[in-house]
Amino acid sequence: MTTLDIPELALVALVGVSGSGKSTFAARHFAPSQVLASDAFRAMVADDENDQSASADAFAALHHVAGVRLRRGRLTVVDATNLQPHARAGLVRVAREHDVLPVAIVLDVPEALAWERTEARADRTHGRQVLARMQRDLRRSYGHLEREGFRRVHVLRGVEEIDAARIRLEK
Ligand code: GTP
Ligand code: MG
Repeated sequence: MTTLDIPELALVALVGVSGSGKSTFAARHFAPSQVLASDAFRAMVADDENDQSASADAFAALHHVAGVRLRRGRLTVVDATNLQPHARAGLVRVAREHDVLPVAIVLDVPEALAWERTEARADRTHGRQVLARMQRDLRRSYGHLEREGFRRVHVLRGVEEIDAARIRLEK
């Protein structure tokens, strides 16, 4: 079993391609109210969780809510791919503004599995190329996360390691 130590008050960024199991992981380990999902914020601002044109507004709203939660001392998990440096920089900034540690949890599954899962979903319409690009972004993310300001970086590789992980909150 892999134990992931996380400060009781942290901003946790899940990092992984579409189909890596971020939302499933978030639902398993955290309360629904602790999880801010980019999909949910796209739906909130545009009535469509896949409307990519709503991303800027959705993330602005997500960052705002994350900031409010951190100000109130609430652990907050961001369920988004977080594969791009600029996306992660926004989260590190919000965490720093509130003197909270940013933590990354990387879910790394084989690309073929992520694609199989994505293809099976009616609510995901992006193609193979988009997933391949995400996978490249993930590869590039390794080695950058600490430098970007993530104080802890937990990497879970493969379905078994993801399944066996548990979260331990540090008082
Ligand atoms: P996006 O929201 O598209 O970025 O994907 P995601 O990373 O949130 O993946 P999600 O948790 O939605 O998982 C994608 C699919 O894989 C879902 O249909 C899940 O049921 C399935 N899945 C995720 N994690 C697991 C797992 O640990 N075991 C199994 N068997 N299926 C999983
Ligand atoms: Mg998801």
